[in-house]
Amino acid sequence: MRINDNALIARLKELGVELRPGVSLAAKTSLGIGGTTDQLLLRRYESIPEVMRLLADNQTPHRFLGGGTNVLIDDGELAWVVLHLPPAHPGVRLEGNFAFVDASADLGGTVTFCAKHDLGGMEGLIGVPGSVGGALRMNAGAYGMQIGSYVREIELYRAAKGDLETMRGDQIHFDYRHTSFAPDDVMLRVKLELPSKPYKEILAGIRICNEKRRSSQPLNQKSAGCIFKNPPGGSAGRMIDALGLKGHRVGDAMVSDRHANFFINAANSSCADMLKLIDYVRDRVRASYAVELENEVIVWRN
Ligand code: EPU
Repeated sequence: MRINDNALIARLKELGVELRPGVSLAAKTSLGIGGTTDQLLLRRYESIPEVMRLLADNQTPHRFLGGGTNVLIDDGELAWVVLHLPPAHPGVRLEGNFAFVDASADLGGTVTFCAKHDLGGMEGLIGVPGSVGGALRMNAGAYGMQIGSYVREIELYRAAKGDLETMRGDQIHFDYRHTSFAPDDVMLRVKLELPSKPYKEILAGIRICNEKRRSSQPLNQKSAGCIFKNPPGGSAGRMIDALGLKGHRVGDAMVSDRHANFFINAANSSCADMLKLIDYVRDRVRASYAVELENEVIVWRN
């Protein structure tokens, strides 16, 4: 979708929004899949409610893109613009055991920054790609921990109210790869409370997680992490593997040889082929195990 209205463009600029026309989202996602649209960089959080009203008044559909590591985006010219919070470096401020983190901060960078200041707890998240905002929305977790446990406060844009709001951690439900946020809530900043731990100890934990991850996940290939959530008490990866589907392809979309719940873009996969592969695997699992696998990856269709 393209923004061509000069009055709208001028007003967006006044609100601190940078317009980047015709951006390929394939370049902005870890899967390397996605069509083209205009990108709006929101440089001032406080102007977000006004920007959203402006887009609504101008019938300009939009979606918020975070780190792009857990999303599968449609091909071709997209029917909505993407909004983006500019990356923050490091985007973390510490006060005792509290870390105040921008949603656009890199998750791994945040874990490392906190570790260097003797704040631990998030070791398991070290190899999880993406932004802190994305991790909060999905309640990212690995190796027995999840980010939601450490959240004390979140500042967010609540689309339903059209305004910014601060929520306490205990007002939010963090479940397995699921939170009580509305789909159109936008994370802006979070206050985490982290346990004190010597850097050396945290580093040892990080090394163990890294080693486990490297040995079981295809880290150097284009993927969106696990495609399906694990069903209660089960493992999607183990089931798909047992069906002999590792290496199964639809075009350039492929079930990883290393971890069967990771689907790889082996070269130039389209979104359509990746969706066909997802459906095929879901059907096979349903037929053999009578289990309905639920997507973990977020799919943005036109
Ligand atoms: N397994 C197989 N074949 C495979 C993959 C796994 O037999 O191809 C077996 C493993 O041997 C193991 C079991 O399945 O016995 C579970 O595998 P693994 O330890 O790799 O964990 P997972 O349940 O597949 C979950 C998360 C990962 C997270 C790891 C480590 C989900 C959907 N996945 O994977 O998160 O990194 O645990 O904690 O919850 C993600 O969210 O994108 C993600 C990758």
